[in-house]
Amino acid sequence: MPGGGAAVFDLAVIGAGAAGMMCAAVAGQRGRRVVLIDHARRLAEKIRISGGGRCNFTNRDAGPANFISVNPHFCRSALSRYTPADFLALLARHRVSWHEKHRGQLFCDESSEDVIRVLRAECDAGGVEWRMPCSVEAVEREAAGGFALRTSSGVLRATRVVIATGGLPVAQIGASDFGLKIARQFGLKVVEPRPALVPLTFDAAAWKPFVPLAGIALEVDIATGEGRRAAAFREDLLFTHRGLSGPAVLQISSYWQPGAPIVIDLAPGMDLAAQLLAAKSGGRQQLGNVLAGMVPRRLAEQWLAATHPGQQAQRIADLPDHTLRQLAQGMQCWTLVPSGTEGYKKAEVMRGGVDTRGLDQQTMEARNVPGLHFIGEVVDVTGWLGGYNFQWAWASGAACGKAV
Ligand code: FDA
Repeated sequence: MPGGGAAVFDLAVIGAGAAGMMCAAVAGQRGRRVVLIDHARRLAEKIRISGGGRCNFTNRDAGPANFISVNPHFCRSALSRYTPADFLALLARHRVSWHEKHRGQLFCDESSEDVIRVLRAECDAGGVEWRMPCSVEAVEREAAGGFALRTSSGVLRATRVVIATGGLPVAQIGASDFGLKIARQFGLKVVEPRPALVPLTFDAAAWKPFVPLAGIALEVDIATGEGRRAAAFREDLLFTHRGLSGPAVLQISSYWQPGAPIVIDLAPGMDLAAQLLAAKSGGRQQLGNVLAGMVPRRLAEQWLAATHPGQQAQRIADLPDHTLRQLAQGMQCWTLVPSGTEGYKKAEVMRGGVDTRGLDQQTMEARNVPGLHFIGEVVDVTGWLGGYNFQWAWASGAACGKAV
């Protein structure tokens, strides 16, 4: 790479998103000379659109059990050294107010812009130099040590490089596979990336009977997998025209393996069979009305139309026990095999990424490439829905920023 006039930094951070800004700020404030590079025109667009514009910036209860990785213990060290309380203290210093929605999910009172403002101010306090918009065409190791970056703003030289380019979802706002390419270029393994926290879709013909349920939302139990791969959640589910969405499905999608079934209980915590059989003694009531007393009316009506056509208006007393048991089993152990997902356009995160077995858990540095670090979503650590992914971005960014 040509050398003349190239700036020399202690650290070049590629990707000015959640993890990259945190890392740059921490390293800058420790006196490191940091350059932060991003190819996007607008800063931190994923933070801006997150949490419906209010950024679910962490989860009060975030811990290693809320993350998926082929190496599940990797995230432990960084998460324990930068906790949700640390991020709350940062927000307090910048007078950002927040509230808890449910299950420990913390959101800005005003706007996700507040989080971007905080991180930008922290970077400025650390004297971070910005290159934005600026694309990085190549990263190469130099014979004398360190790295040379060929960018649209010329060649930059840095002792260390941090890859913080995020995951593949939502390419329209700057997502790219740059980080995965750099990992492969330097001989790191990559765990196959897949869309996660994403709606599930079904074969159009198989889904047709359920299309009229679109728009219905209710709390369900949802599960998939067996043994070590088993996962289960109680969350809200949303029927869509193409399949299933809502927090329950987004959560389970991160664990779902193509070809595997998911199992849904549409009446969690109830013994629907016992209740239907008991209702027989009531005599004159219609099946549809009885069921509508146990689950949302629209679900009861459309479910019966889809699965027991013609029986909705029948008197429950006239129906054989086995029909009622079968109906209850169908609703409480609804087993279906998704045909796929809505893909990276609709996914909130990428599952998989840079294999953590090649990284140091304290510093996020590649074991075999001294000076090259990976942080945030590009790494094979994927959080649940509910603020966990930002907590990983802050924690991995801070771990790296403290180490370099
Ligand atoms: P992030 O994506 O934040 O940043 C990567 C940066 O790298 C981007 O600025 C990009 O432009 C830049 N970049 C990419 N390729 C580059 C290249 N070749 N050269 C230069 N720059 C490059 N999580 C959560 O915890 N709570 C929430 O409320 C939400 N909500 C949410 C909503 C939606 C719609 C989405 C899509 C995602 C979420 N998430 C979320 C997930 C969360 O946004 C995500 O996990 C973090 O932003 C990841 O932080 P990173 O810094 O790793 O990547």
